[in-house]
Amino acid sequence: MISVGIDGLFAPVLEQGLSRDALAKLAPQLKTAHRELMSRRGGDVGFYDLPSRNDLLRSVTNEVNRLRSIADDLVVLGIGGSSMGGQALTAALRHTTERPGRVHFVDNIDPDSVGMLLDRLDPSRSAVVVISKSGGTVETLAQLLVMRRWLRVTLGAGEARSRMTFITAKSSGLLREVADAEGIRAFEIPENVGGRYSVLSPVGLLPAAFCGVDVREVMQGAADMVERVTNDDPQQNPATLMAAWAVLVERELSRRTLVMMPYADSLRVVTSWFVQLWAESLGKRLDRHGQVVNAGQTPVPALGVTDQHAQLQLFIEGPKDKAVMLVKVKKFQRALPVPDELSDREEAAFLGGRDLAEVLAAELRATRAMLLDAGVPVLDIGLDQVDATHIGGLFVLLEAACACTGYTMGINPFDEPGIEAGKRMAAGLLGRPGYERDADRVLTREAVKNRVS
Ligand code: PA5
Repeated sequence: MISVGIDGLFAPVLEQGLSRDALAKLAPQLKTAHRELMSRRGGDVGFYDLPSRNDLLRSVTNEVNRLRSIADDLVVLGIGGSSMGGQALTAALRHTTERPGRVHFVDNIDPDSVGMLLDRLDPSRSAVVVISKSGGTVETLAQLLVMRRWLRVTLGAGEARSRMTFITAKSSGLLREVADAEGIRAFEIPENVGGRYSVLSPVGLLPAAFCGVDVREVMQGAADMVERVTNDDPQQNPATLMAAWAVLVERELSRRTLVMMPYADSLRVVTSWFVQLWAESLGKRLDRHGQVVNAGQTPVPALGVTDQHAQLQLFIEGPKDKAVMLVKVKKFQRALPVPDELSDREEAAFLGGRDLAEVLAAELRATRAMLLDAGVPVLDIGLDQVDATHIGGLFVLLEAACACTGYTMGINPFDEPGIEAGKRMAAGLLGRPGYERDADRVLTREAVKNRVS
């Protein structure tokens, strides 16, 4: 079971919190946002339907069986939404796998780290998955060219081909064309699913399955959550509740920084995935009518208990611009009681015999109380445990909440116009024909800087 609680937004639970009237006032906008999402579902909004795409699941499973028979190491190339989903799914569920396969996510083009990875790998026991929906992302193409040459030089063209798998749009883009021309296996990212909403497509499933994650269970948990987040009754819909909380903390309490703070190491990378989802989806200059709004909340990753000794001081006493999503895990896979050591010392004796999970739970409760005392709004997300079904459900919940928050704010949570210009400028600087004017924009900007300095 996954629960969402928004009591930590309202007085008296939250010091100087809102009255429940604020939620009632927002209800019509939430309803409209939800209704529009439902009307687009299956049209240009595709993420709700990924958990029922058994065809994608089957093809991923077959491909992973093949890859596992030829490789011990899987290198996953891609960036942004084409990498974060796989990273998060794999990291969240690694502890549930019996013999984890080695997966290396290359989501940067740092020559030192890419070079070091190549030094470590045996090409004859490696495979490379290249993920890009557009098929034209400069960074991913650069990674691909490096890996392709590495495989070809060491193993020959035929073997190199069989050790490469592409995940890309069904019928457009360079990757698809190369796959068709060279006979490279290619899997589909559905047209109506954007990068950061694609974790439950081959983008996330393939690396996770190679690692040994039970992706069938992930999809089951996701499908169950789809039922909940498509419910028209806002009180029964955890995504609508979370969206209400997110919109109200900003509109009514001017909280424009949103901290996600899970109390479980396994969710650390899910938090990084959430940061990408929330930032790229909601950070928008224009609303859907073309008015300048500069919308968005800055998502900040934190980890309980670690960040109690780092960022929490700032959250509690710093600028009053933050709201915190606490994620509580009720049951951990292992029990680890603290031994009855130093029992003659008062400072340590009270810990003896308590499980580490019990200590963690007490720390979370203390953090929650401190935040609420300080007037910092809290969203409570609860997971019975971190297993495949709960993680599948959590991804759907956060995606649906993000989409609903975006529509309620009046912006489009599915595009990313701000970063397109940067992609074009980099390509222009690197000499891509047709991008000369984009390169000129950089040169002009640099010339201004040079005159000033
Ligand atoms: O979420 C998104 O849409 C982006 O982060 C993309 O995933 C990222 O820019 C990579 O794009 P592509 O998959 O086309 O290479």
